[in-house]
Amino acid sequence: MIAEPAPTVRELLAFYLEAGVDCALAEEPIDRLAELDAPPAPPRVAPPVEAPRPITAPTVMRGEVAPAPDVAIASARETARTAPTLEALRELMQSFEGCALKHTATRLVFADGNPQARIMFVGEAPGRDEDIEGLPFVGRSGKLLDLMIGAIGLNRSTAYIANVIPWRPPGNRTPTPQETQICLPFIQRQIELVNPDVLVTLGNPSTQTLLGTREGIMRTRGRWFDYETGQRTIRALPTFHPAYLLRSPSYKRLAWQDLRAIAKVLAG
Ligand code: URA
Repeated sequence: MIAEPAPTVRELLAFYLEAGVDCALAEEPIDRLAELDAPPAPPRVAPPVEAPRPITAPTVMRGEVAPAPDVAIASARETARTAPTLEALRELMQSFEGCALKHTATRLVFADGNPQARIMFVGEAPGRDEDIEGLPFVGRSGKLLDLMIGAIGLNRSTAYIANVIPWRPPGNRTPTPQETQICLPFIQRQIELVNPDVLVTLGNPSTQTLLGTREGIMRTRGRWFDYETGQRTIRALPTFHPAYLLRSPSYKRLAWQDLRAIAKVLAG
């Protein structure tokens, strides 16, 4: 049998890219195969019974290992609540250490557009292009979003755009429910501070997270919901995520109906 030549570095990188591995998570490689040969961990001993934790908002310190999700969620709520302005919120998010996604992303993707806009669009999470540029919806689906909003006379100076998750999940994987819950107080505060007349949730994850529904996008799209900020009720409309429309262009017809409904409310 003739032995296959060892793959070149270029071929290996191409293999990784095709498998969705397009970013490194640490400076040094970790040999996972060596871990298999490591001696087994000692048996776990039951931890001593702890006194119940007081229900206060704990502080997550920079440099600590990722906190337990309930601690991180409480910390995110407390942090977001105190932001008096969008700029303050952005700074608080920059220094928030409770979401592990921050450590694998290149940068925070806070928002784009006009904070005074009457309409706010919210997607799921940044992808590779957004992670590089630090702005939401600048890749392929962003180009389609620009065309969609352009069709009803809007652009990034008359609309505000953000995501539920402000840090790119590695390899564009789906954010975990814990990551979503940790980031939720921040986008809720962002919506409260922008205070738009119309909120458009793009795709299922954004719709389900922000509008508290378990129904799928096929049922929710085109239906008006009430979004309560605590101060005010905002009209919210779910529609298809542009990335979905790129994969399933036949649904653009329904997206167009949603856009016309949005234009009508803005004009009315
Ligand atoms: N998809 C999203 O949900 N948000 C972005 O910013 C880009 C792609």
